[in-house]
Amino acid sequence: MSISYQEKEQIFHLQTKNTSYIIKILEGKYPVHIYWGKKIKTPDMENALVRRFVAFGPVTENAGLALDFICQEYPTGCGTDYRIPAISAVFDDGSRSVELHYKDYRIIKGKPRLAGLPSTYTERDEEADTLELILCDEVKNLKVILTYTAYANEDVITRNVRVENDSDKDIVLEKVMSASVDFEDSEYEFTELSGAWARERHIERNRLRSGVQSIESRRGASSHQLNPFFALSKPDATEDYGEVYAFNLVYSGNFTAGVEVDQLFKARAYIGINDYDFSWLLQPGENFQSPEAVMVYSAQGFGEMSRIYHRIYRKRLVRGKYRDEVRPILVNNWEGTYFDFNEEKLLEIAKEASELGIEMLVLDDGWFGKRNGDNCSLGDWFENREKLPHGLAGLSGQIHKLGLKFGLWFEPEMVSPDSELYRKHPDWCIHVPGRVRAECRNQLTLDLGRQEVCDYIVETISGVLKSADINYVKWDMNRHMSQLGSEGLAANRQKEMPHRYMLGFYDVLERITSAFPDVLFEGCSGGGGRFDPGMLYYMPQSWASDDTDAVERLYIQYGTSLVYPLSSMGAHVSAVPNHQVNRTTSLKMRGDVAMSGNFGYELDLTKFTDEEKAEVKKQVAEYKELRKFVPSGEFYRLKNPFEGNTAAWQVISEDGRNVFAAYFQILGKVNPGIMRMKFKALEPEAEYEVVGEDKIYSGEELMQIGLLVEFYGDYQSRTWRLKKL
Ligand code: DGJ
Repeated sequence: MSISYQEKEQIFHLQTKNTSYIIKILEGKYPVHIYWGKKIKTPDMENALVRRFVAFGPVTENAGLALDFICQEYPTGCGTDYRIPAISAVFDDGSRSVELHYKDYRIIKGKPRLAGLPSTYTERDEEADTLELILCDEVKNLKVILTYTAYANEDVITRNVRVENDSDKDIVLEKVMSASVDFEDSEYEFTELSGAWARERHIERNRLRSGVQSIESRRGASSHQLNPFFALSKPDATEDYGEVYAFNLVYSGNFTAGVEVDQLFKARAYIGINDYDFSWLLQPGENFQSPEAVMVYSAQGFGEMSRIYHRIYRKRLVRGKYRDEVRPILVNNWEGTYFDFNEEKLLEIAKEASELGIEMLVLDDGWFGKRNGDNCSLGDWFENREKLPHGLAGLSGQIHKLGLKFGLWFEPEMVSPDSELYRKHPDWCIHVPGRVRAECRNQLTLDLGRQEVCDYIVETISGVLKSADINYVKWDMNRHMSQLGSEGLAANRQKEMPHRYMLGFYDVLERITSAFPDVLFEGCSGGGGRFDPGMLYYMPQSWASDDTDAVERLYIQYGTSLVYPLSSMGAHVSAVPNHQVNRTTSLKMRGDVAMSGNFGYELDLTKFTDEEKAEVKKQVAEYKELRKFVPSGEFYRLKNPFEGNTAAWQVISEDGRNVFAAYFQILGKVNPGIMRMKFKALEPEAEYEVVGEDKIYSGEELMQIGLLVEFYGDYQSRTWRLKKL
């Protein structure tokens, strides 16, 4: 039983493996937040709940209860609480005051799915309990259902909110957060993942200060710039020590998340759909469903926080056959040929791939319409017979004959102004009539809020997937939205467009991925611009970044690992000098970095020397061993590249029998200090063999003394595979 209710005191106690989350209904009316943290017995409320008079704080009808002081579950900012609200609405009389009072509750075994939105799930009812707290604004007949799921064996609590219009008048929602959590103090640091195109998910950590500090996306995608994740940690928290509270939104569009530190040094954390450019007309009888927030508490620092996220996402967010199956080693032709390829060239690469033990060829951008550059043909999803005289079916047939699988690139959400689709349906893109349609990479975004547009995408993409033996799809998206508007929506609904787009998008993904259960789907958005849990629900992996340089990837993959499992990251060896930063790193380091993700190559294999081919063969053979346990293993960060010249990490298989570790040096140093690979979380008494080295050490020695690491030169790397004896 992970959720219990004490009726007399009206206390809900949610328990995960090691945590408690406690809510009290105060005075039969107000859902008040009592506690979230290490597992405890239900505390004495006289002690746990503090009320205080606040100067300049209006009180409710019950003198003495100033909501501005109380820690709340779902604040409305109705006037007695000046902090940031979780919900805002406008009623038909123009009034804006929302007052929510507790009405009822329901405890459900397991976890209900969210209508039309991605979410974590359970496979058996015993895995979790779900609490629905039903709140009502009795004056306006607005019902708000707060849903909490407590996972019994993981320190994860998910939250979402459903709003129902039980009145006979229209209500306009202007803000609906998925979760709001009040902390009694603000002695925390705020960690976020920020970046840009080709510099995704760099870690930033700052002390909380008074006022609101927030991260958000207004780009129509979760974005390269800020990820829908943040953590609040105690200032002394490290990788392995200290308290961390983390929030991640299962959503791929505009989000907002942040913390407000108030006059009494309390902190209010929130996460949800961005209220910028958002409103939702809720007609009588209709309801609005928020996305899900996944909240994790770790008492053992950021390392444990990450491992909790990795497990829940690997096992109870990702779906389909590739959740549990190993992923093929691929070669992608993008950086090898860009748009300059034909069937003959692709078959040359495929032949080489097959000799090297690579298992799949992925044909990237440029196979359709008349696309020989990025200036045309998006939307025209029919093969270019000049480049592919035997069509996709002929090409995939030849590739399969070589013993490889075949993957194909699409960018289905986009349209090029120079395309047959645009000439036929110029109104299908997101635009504002009378205004310039700003192009980005010479393209416009299709309006997925419109059913006919979604149907077109499902039909055309499905048609291509049926036309040839296609085993993998790379689903790309290469621009952010601008001039937001939809011809399919009435004037008073224009601000619904960004979220309607996401609902249409998720519906398209559901229809296509469920119709092709054997196809492996990889998300991509100009690299890692939509690397979020929403996408992982439909596609088990995502291309982590368009920056394929091995050094840059240390930062990107290390930052990404804060939340997302290794099994979700696409990582490829590319050519040198690197196309993004012009750096030359060794083939060994490029391989070692990429092996910590879904491994592949992104270059023209025919250009390798014989010596390089021999090394690639070894890498491929090595990864075939590693993928049996690395993507599904427990991940430990050992050395942080954001703090120095080295990076190191380690993975232990779920059964503890296999270990993989990697150590990287960015720049060579004269007279370097002593460097050692100190392993973590091994069994101290057990013996481990270093595979390929004929050496055996105790777990204790590997952790306490470690293995000596010596590098000479820039861009060096070393990996180890251990087997527990
Ligand atoms: C952006 C992706 O991230 C690249 O890998 C490549 O697929 C290009 N788009 C193709 O246009």
